[in-house]
Amino acid sequence: MQDGAGPDAPSGSPAWWQAGAIYQIYPRSFQDSNGDGVGDLAGISARLDYLAELGVDAVWISPVYPSPMADFGYDVSDYCSIGPRFGTLADFDAMLAAAHARNLKVILDYVPNHSSDRHPWFEQSRSSRDNPKRDWYVWRDGKPGGEPPSNWLSEFGGPAWTRDETTNQWYYHAYLPSQPDLNWRNPQVRQAMLDVLRFWLDRGVDGFRVDAIHHLFEDEALRDNPANPDWRPGMSPARRVVRVHTMDQPEVQDVVAAMRRVADAYGGRVLIGEAYLPIPRMMAYYGRPDAPGFQLPFNFHLLSAPWTPAAIAALIGEYEAALPFGAWPNWVLGNHDRSRLASRIGPAQARVAAMLLLTLRGTPTIYQGEEIGMVDVQIPPALVKDPWERRVPGLGLGRDPVRTPMPWKCGPKGGFTTGEPWLPLGPAGTGITVAGQERDPRSLLALYRALLRLRRTEPALSVGSIGNVRASGSVLSYQRQLGARTLLVALNLGNEPQTRTLHGAGGRLLLSSTLDGPVGHHVDDALRLGPNEGAVVAF
Ligand code: GLC
Repeated sequence: MQDGAGPDAPSGSPAWWQAGAIYQIYPRSFQDSNGDGVGDLAGISARLDYLAELGVDAVWISPVYPSPMADFGYDVSDYCSIGPRFGTLADFDAMLAAAHARNLKVILDYVPNHSSDRHPWFEQSRSSRDNPKRDWYVWRDGKPGGEPPSNWLSEFGGPAWTRDETTNQWYYHAYLPSQPDLNWRNPQVRQAMLDVLRFWLDRGVDGFRVDAIHHLFEDEALRDNPANPDWRPGMSPARRVVRVHTMDQPEVQDVVAAMRRVADAYGGRVLIGEAYLPIPRMMAYYGRPDAPGFQLPFNFHLLSAPWTPAAIAALIGEYEAALPFGAWPNWVLGNHDRSRLASRIGPAQARVAAMLLLTLRGTPTIYQGEEIGMVDVQIPPALVKDPWERRVPGLGLGRDPVRTPMPWKCGPKGGFTTGEPWLPLGPAGTGITVAGQERDPRSLLALYRALLRLRRTEPALSVGSIGNVRASGSVLSYQRQLGARTLLVALNLGNEPQTRTLHGAGGRLLLSSTLDGPVGHHVDDALRLGPNEGAVVAF
């Protein structure tokens, strides 16, 4: 791609969620403090110094609400409380204060699409057809012959409708039958769920990651989804149909705007939207002048892009070009739903990927454990916890492998717990521990720290423009620029040494991903990159 410069840095000083880096905590697996084998809030508090030292600016914490844990917290039975296994509201307030004392922002997970079937709202809703909460969920009559109301499929396998004996009607669930969808067409639901945001904003949280937003509405006429001609055995059964009537429906933008207005009334807060959508559709979630959207609709496209310079350069170009005026980009390389980076592209490229994520234009989100190169841990069938894997076994859809506990130090419990970890840690002796990497000046952890430090000292990296995105052989390169400062990032995605010609007087090496050898020296007109090496050069 040629000279694909994006819009310039925002005018005025950038917001924290623009200049900063976000770290996702999967709380069940971060740090246990009470020996029950499940991480908790006191555990997070105990590790805040680690995060501050890492150099991130904000943490997003996956759900810590009361939950029967059918979907490990994404089935909420009380939106305005803390689940006992994670602690208490007092523990939450203490964690929040301790984070703020370290200049770390705290972003909570907000799950608006569905509650748990054990939420009192659903318990009332299912109790009778004329219960005042009946319409808080999506109830319909089945088709004649005992068939569900439409052919819609659950993301986790099986039909998206379940017939309820009590009232002989069907309720809709985009995910598990124990995760009934809330009916956002009901103004009372809307009011109650916006009040949930206010509850946490009043306590001082800095924003929300909004779960599964593209599922919020379904076609009111219940039209069947068309068959997917591209479906093949081995793919998720949910993909047998194309979700034209169950995803990304037009009403959603209006609700996002309402959420945003609530957050904006507090000032300095951020809303991040989770929607796996093609780039053009994703852009709608930034909002319109009359209906503000998310500040950051998650950009997941690096998760599935082929790991080649040409594909990544094309993606950067397409994404930057699609951004609405003034919209702020963001990039994601891992999360609690997707295969670990080191397993996808190998440990050598994980270092290059770290440099990519932390030098692209836009807010980066780092998933817990990626900074030490955690890999997918194969879970024996008897120990599988993820409902997706249990319902649709053997297709590799399960997410347990990417949710295993943080290995803080060596040993089967890795300093994560004194009890029995809820999921096994990876095989011992892989060297993938925080303690081990803290002692090694060239570790991946050391690289993440160096990159995050560099982002803070070089505003061109955090808020500068991006341009000259090029793919040449196995090298991906781009420039970041702010005022008179220009940086070149060159990443060797291959196993052979490469040379990238620099035009003009050359520059000064700021960082190599190998952390091997001196920096600060002059690079003449040829930048030599070793296999799997990335470098940042200043002009
Ligand atoms: C989101 C979450 C995922 C969860 C699903 C249902 O995609 O990231 O973990 O299972 O929503 O809430």
